[in-house]
Amino acid sequence: MQPEKIGRYEIKSELGRGGMATVYLGYDPRFEREVAVKVLPPELLHADPQFRLRFEREAKIIASLEHHSIVPVYDVGADDDQPYFVMRYMTGGSLSERIKAGILSVEEATRIIERVGPGLDEAHSKGIVHRDIKPSNILFDSKGTPYISDFGIAKLSQAQAGNVTGSGIIGTPAYMAPEQAQGDSIDGRADIYALGIILFEMVTGRQPYEADTPMAVAIKHITDPIPLILIANPKLPPGMDMVIRKAMAKDRDDRFSSSKEMLDALYAVMRGDTTKLPPVVAPKTIQGTLIQKPVVAKKSFNAMAVVIPVVAVAAIAGGFFLFNGINNRPPVTEAPASTFTSAPITETSEPTAEEATQAVTLPAETATEAPPAATETVVSLPSFGGADRIAFVANNEIWVMNIDGSDLEQLTNDGGTKNDLQFLDDETLLFISGKTIKYVNINTGAEDILTSFPTASSLNAFRVSHDGKQVMITLNNEVFVVPFDFEQMKDVHKKSELLALEFCIQPEGGTRAASPVREALWSADDKLVAWLFRGVDAGNASLQAEQVSILDITACTPAAIDQLDNFPALRFPVEGYQNRNMPDLDWDGNDLFVFNTDRRNNGWGELYVYDWTLHKGYHINPIDGACCYRDARWSPDGLYLLFAFQDLRLGSEAPTLLYYVPYGEIGTGTGFTPLPLDNFFKNPKEAPQPALHASP
Ligand SMILES: Nc1ncnc2c1ncn2[C@@H]1O[C@H](COP(=O)(O)OP(=O)(O)O)[C@@H](O)[C@H]1O
Ligand SMILES: [Mg+2]
Repeated sequence: MQPEKIGRYEIKSELGRGGMATVYLGYDPRFEREVAVKVLPPELLHADPQFRLRFEREAKIIASLEHHSIVPVYDVGADDDQPYFVMRYMTGGSLSERIKAGILSVEEATRIIERVGPGLDEAHSKGIVHRDIKPSNILFDSKGTPYISDFGIAKLSQAQAGNVTGSGIIGTPAYMAPEQAQGDSIDGRADIYALGIILFEMVTGRQPYEADTPMAVAIKHITDPIPLILIANPKLPPGMDMVIRKAMAKDRDDRFSSSKEMLDALYAVMRGDTTKLPPVVAPKTIQGTLIQKPVVAKKSFNAMAVVIPVVAVAAIAGGFFLFNGINNRPPVTEAPASTFTSAPITETSEPTAEEATQAVTLPAETATEAPPAATETVVSLPSFGGADRIAFVANNEIWVMNIDGSDLEQLTNDGGTKNDLQFLDDETLLFISGKTIKYVNINTGAEDILTSFPTASSLNAFRVSHDGKQVMITLNNEVFVVPFDFEQMKDVHKKSELLALEFCIQPEGGTRAASPVREALWSADDKLVAWLFRGVDAGNASLQAEQVSILDITACTPAAIDQLDNFPALRFPVEGYQNRNMPDLDWDGNDLFVFNTDRRNNGWGELYVYDWTLHKGYHINPIDGACCYRDARWSPDGLYLLFAFQDLRLGSEAPTLLYYVPYGEIGTGTGFTPLPLDNFFKNPKEAPQPALHASP
């Protein structure tokens, strides 16, 4: 019901509603002008007798914020227990409407930050944090000039929520900095983070973290890697990625310290000054990642304030100790309390009775919405990058562990050699041992022989295609591509029996297919293959070099195989490649390869990413810029890299460590934590050869 009057202001119509408040178009008879009257819920007064006092004190602080980029507050008061603010009526709509109408150019986005940034910096210099920076709080006047509105209002509301719950956090999950979502004390850098999200949204039309519930969104801010903005909008200048990464850094110490600093970075991007870019910013074309999801119709809670008991987020985040300090927080143990609004919508984050009490409470007016179903916010096994388990070789045996390094288990116990680990399905891990193909069930540890080739001179690769229908086998340094049938394969023991299958490729002397191929990989669509082989160096005919060819094998006969690319020789110089060894290779199945060179310990060296569609190589040193790496693997979604590292600086004492890190954060100065395998690898020359198990 719309009031006729609030204080001396005549109410004409409703302008809009947010999470906490209703805003009316009013008329001020004293100054004969239209104003916007923002009415806060009367519960604020009832729940806390101190509120009126604090309200007036805070209101004075807000009113003291005079800046040409802040919507001026004309008056505050409490009429009939109804706290209200009176501010300038902004006729040009909000930034959220502008974004809905179409994405903004980098220039337009920069102009908005140019205008509102100084207001933010000014407030921060007075110790005032906005806490709810979002597109609907950037309002335009009739000339299209943007202003920040609602300064300090979130804090007022929070004071109340905090009083009742002892642990409430208020803000809008889609724009909430990790420290804010975790209930830590915040400073101006939380607003900078939100400004980073707004920038992302302005130039891509979508938010970096989207999920079905406010809780899930808040958790993504805490735990998910920063999405690559160039995937969301490949037309952006590459430098935008660096700006977003710095604005949205999980650790506020890594963020821009002011909007001015952020603005300077944007100016540099527009000038095309890319000298400070991290080395790996190539747009990727991986399918099925979060940020490639079509924009989902945003549910109304996006625009709402949400109260999240700290303990809920902390408990969930506690499971993810893997990355950059998420787990730096001591566990919060106090019980979550209920919050002041009615009709709480409760989502269960884990099916335990204890955690089922954690509540996400939405404002009363939305409580008629059906509560979201219990969601998969947290699944039983942690999963990152689309993978939940890692199998690897250590001390001659195969081990398996969860993606975060927990639940380590030894699978085999025979001391035999183990190579070319590959997951065939949910539980079957294939590997080569000498001239035998074996498989082991990662859940039961049951091991068996698929087949063996006792008379062959060598068996180097056995790779089943992604669709499971073909297998590529390197036997006697010859490559065969034949149909794959698990049972049928048990009866195949020699070349003639392979040739008896309905082959796609059979080797012919003198063709590329007769090269000694040591690793063979399939593209995601199984139409292309990549072979790592030793052959004449493309740059120096007197040298033999390990190299990679990408081939179109759809024609199926060696003579007609189309070579699409070959690297590295002619494409880019590679450090640590003097001996022309390429100990290991992996392919994301699309445009990116990762490989390492050989500088020490039988195959540990520099790490390279190569984009074969752009013919560009990137030298990456994820750990302190140091050498040496081996056996890198792409995650199933292509957004993470798993690799082994030995720190050359520690000499022969260097332990073998495994890391699983967001690819997009490599080269940004982020410090990574290894998986918790202390002094686990006994032989520094051993290759861990990990394989990632895709989450169901
Ligand atoms: N000063 C103003 N002038 C004109 N419209 C306003 C003003 N302040 C708020 N509004 C409108 O009222 C809506 C609700 O505002 P608010 O309660 O602050 O919620 P939110 O900022 O979460 O959208 C805004 O989205 C905006 O469209
Ligand atoms: Mg607002």
